[in-house]
Amino acid sequence: MVTLNLSTIISLPVNFLTVMSSRLIATQIIQQVIESKFTLTYALRNNESFKQAGDDKALIQKICYGSFRWYIQLEYILNQLLEKRIKKKDSRLKYLMIVGLYQLRFMRIPSHAVVSETVNTCKKIKMEWAKGLVNAILRRYLRETDSLSPNIDNDDNLETSHPQWITEQLKQDWPEEWRNILEANNQHPPMYLRVNQLRQSRDEYLIKMEHAGITGQATPYSEQGILLTKPIDVNQLPGFDIGEVSVQELAAQLSVELLDLKPGHSVLDACAAPGGKSSHILESQAKIKSLTVIEKDPNRAKRLSETLMRLDLQAITKVSDIIDIDQWWDKEQFDRILLDAPCSATGVIRRHPDIKLLRTPEEVKAISLLQMQLLETLWQTLKPKGLLVYVTCSIFKQENSELIKQFTDNNNDCVLKPIDAEWGKDTGYGKQILTGQNNMDGFFYACLEKIIV
Ligand SMILES: C[S@@+](CC[C@H](N)C(=O)[O-])C[C@H]1O[C@@H](n2cnc3c(N)ncnc32)[C@H](O)[C@@H]1O
Repeated sequence: MVTLNLSTIISLPVNFLTVMSSRLIATQIIQQVIESKFTLTYALRNNESFKQAGDDKALIQKICYGSFRWYIQLEYILNQLLEKRIKKKDSRLKYLMIVGLYQLRFMRIPSHAVVSETVNTCKKIKMEWAKGLVNAILRRYLRETDSLSPNIDNDDNLETSHPQWITEQLKQDWPEEWRNILEANNQHPPMYLRVNQLRQSRDEYLIKMEHAGITGQATPYSEQGILLTKPIDVNQLPGFDIGEVSVQELAAQLSVELLDLKPGHSVLDACAAPGGKSSHILESQAKIKSLTVIEKDPNRAKRLSETLMRLDLQAITKVSDIIDIDQWWDKEQFDRILLDAPCSATGVIRRHPDIKLLRTPEEVKAISLLQMQLLETLWQTLKPKGLLVYVTCSIFKQENSELIKQFTDNNNDCVLKPIDAEWGKDTGYGKQILTGQNNMDGFFYACLEKIIV
């Protein structure tokens, strides 16, 4: 056990002290996500201790993301090791032990250091009484790892650390691919860039990267895409602050080309924040007549404005709920509409592993009703012969091909335009990329053309 007196504190490198509190910060963040239903991104962004953690931010992030990626498996292990369930009022202790188990099982940190640091964190969470229990559980885990394996290996949910309802839904929707999807959900996501083609070509930007000592390669499918060899802080990217480049998943970069933008088009980006696709629209076709962007959430609308400002791009911005059509629509129909709909985000679990714990089947049902309502509302704002591109980062058919089938069945002025692309799987009602396919997130796309009847 590490004991600190004043003289040792003074002589210790700052890093050692902060490393010790990294576990505490990770524990707090996990508790916030699970009990307050904050997303992990939000909890990290708003945690003051995390913001001040300096070099330890990377370790805290690694522990938080990893703990959520493997939470269901780790919770099972913890329950096997505990003789009595932890009381609700002591839930922070449970999250601390999850953090300890994650490090023992998945990180290359010496086990004696993990055990002693986790035990020492008990005092920081004002549960000094639990030191013996935490010590015993973590040591028992180290002794009994092998005996826990068979149960885990024989259960798809535990082995891949997914809630049963997600596994079952994927087995039903993708009987051949579900296993690959579950495994892809647990991989670390790659970092993709989109070069701002108004400023330079992708080749020119690759040279700038090389000069800055950053390695990456041109992607297939998107002419502006670059895959970085390893993720880095955006502030290290040459020209990021002045809008030469954006960070955007490759699958997300495929949406805008489907709009088939032409000079003079009036374009609507419904559900626009934080502006990844709005800015791509403006970069792709500088001669469109106008781009109107709508976002319901004022905080997210602020981020959308920041994105456009960083890239020096202009759009007509409306902070409104699309359903309240009279609030934002002046009765002028659009040539092109992008509906990047709110969705279950089950295609981006590898980027946001907390989705496994936060999402519920009831929410998915409600989201798919909202998606249909958004489609129906926006359809009236599309010109005859116009095109609406429907996109989600979901891999559930209920939000994708089944929804589009229902919409086209109910609207005789709507025809599905085939997507002629090398990527994705043709579902008959749009194209689906399943998570991990060609190293992309799970996305769905459907192109709906308005015909004159
Ligand atoms: C998938 S995200 C959009 C991502 C964005 N297109 C991009 O590429 O950066 C969906 C967005 O729709 C917004 N939203 C959800 N329901 C809405 C509604 N009824 N009206 C307007 N915006 C809505 C959400 O707040 C969220 O910002």
